[in-house]
Amino acid sequence: MSERAILKIGDREIELSIVEGVEGDRAIDISKLRDLAGVIAYDPSLGNTAITKSAITFVDGENGILRYRGIPIEQFVEKPNFVEVAWLLIFGRLPTRQELARFSEKLTENELLHEGLRHQFQHIPVDAPPMAILSAMMNNLACFHQQLLSVEDVESLEAAAARLISKVRTIAAFSYRRSQGLPFIYPDPHLRYCANFLHMMFSLPYKQYIVTPEIEDALNLVFILHADHEQNCSTATVRTVGSARANLFASCAAGVCALWGPLHGGANVEVMNMLEAIHTGGMTAEECIRLAKDKSHPFRLYGFGHRIYKNYDPRAKMLREACERVFAKLQHQDPLLDIARKLEELALSDPYFIERKLYPNVDFYSGILLRAMGIPTNMFTVCFAIGRLPGWIAHWREQHEDPNSRIVRPRQVYVGPPKTDYVPLNERK
Ligand code: CMC
Repeated sequence: MSERAILKIGDREIELSIVEGVEGDRAIDISKLRDLAGVIAYDPSLGNTAITKSAITFVDGENGILRYRGIPIEQFVEKPNFVEVAWLLIFGRLPTRQELARFSEKLTENELLHEGLRHQFQHIPVDAPPMAILSAMMNNLACFHQQLLSVEDVESLEAAAARLISKVRTIAAFSYRRSQGLPFIYPDPHLRYCANFLHMMFSLPYKQYIVTPEIEDALNLVFILHADHEQNCSTATVRTVGSARANLFASCAAGVCALWGPLHGGANVEVMNMLEAIHTGGMTAEECIRLAKDKSHPFRLYGFGHRIYKNYDPRAKMLREACERVFAKLQHQDPLLDIARKLEELALSDPYFIERKLYPNVDFYSGILLRAMGIPTNMFTVCFAIGRLPGWIAHWREQHEDPNSRIVRPRQVYVGPPKTDYVPLNERK
């Protein structure tokens, strides 16, 4: 008989089954707890609750391990290809040469925006936050591509995924061009995914932006390292919205909104602001560490700490190495990299960070690499979103195809007023 957990409440004993993952994760199944014992589980922020079984990404936070569909993340560093990783996450295995070529073709076919959508950019204030534009435009795709609102087989999933992954890049680049008052640059069907994005960001009508292989590889790597991270806040949001049978566009647009927050994807912007403040003399690295430890102050050491990792985030390590590698090749220098290294050194030798097992996370070094590509700070979280999109799609699909999936509907422990009578307005004091 498989292992059971016994819960004792008063003199009642309730037997609960244990769910096991393939890598040793064990979880007590409490889905029938209320029926069996009349109690519910209390787990604020779901820090100790598995909301699903998932076969997409494995994270071992104690040992700093991250794998996509079983493949260690480090194995993507040699010849990084974001489109291949996107396919892997969504369809569950590495694509064949033909499958990859077909998917790439679909991305190319879908790279233009509907003119109606493009016109909408003209009505957005130039200083609008790019994440607001991204979520609005992504939701808007549902107005222009209604035939893809229902995804019922692999073909329609592939079509919808290609449309989203391709158009998100165009939307992102157009939002940047709008903010700069620059003309939109249409995608170039001859360019690969990352090179095409950089082209739309930086080409001019009279001058083509030339992408170097180092920069193209670096952007591929940045997108790959952000591509999925199991049940993080935005992915859990996508799954929650999708659990109501909301369409893929709406679910991913909700993911963008969650990602925007400074404790999640928005942290890469906060990291850059912090490094800039130190660089321009607004504060010293030591003051920054002191402030992060001050519980009476909301400031945190951005790019540090993680709900799951209690060890060095492997993505942070790879991004730090990528910064060093790319900078050496391009003979590029950035004082912010030295500041980041110093902050890391200070934090990793400080008892506050040691005791709490706080290490650099994915957001600590990503901005420095994006900055070397000329990408402005307010586009960092947008780049995170472009990278995370395949993960959101993969999770939306996994849930959509799960016959046991139910609408996500947590419970609460009510602590408001007891039953109180309504008092008509003229009788209120
Ligand atoms: N600076 C200072 N103190 C911190 C930090 C930090 N960056 N992160 C955690 N702590 C403290 C926290 O105050 C708590 O202290 P105490 O035990 O005295 O109350 C302790 O460490 C445990 O942290 P926690 O708040 O329970 O951790 P959490 O799982 O609730 O939050 C986090 C995780 C990522 C939101 C948090 O570490 C944080 O705010 N980090 C800075 C923002 C950031 O870099 N976010 C990006 C996360 S990784 C990529 C992504 O998901 O987008």
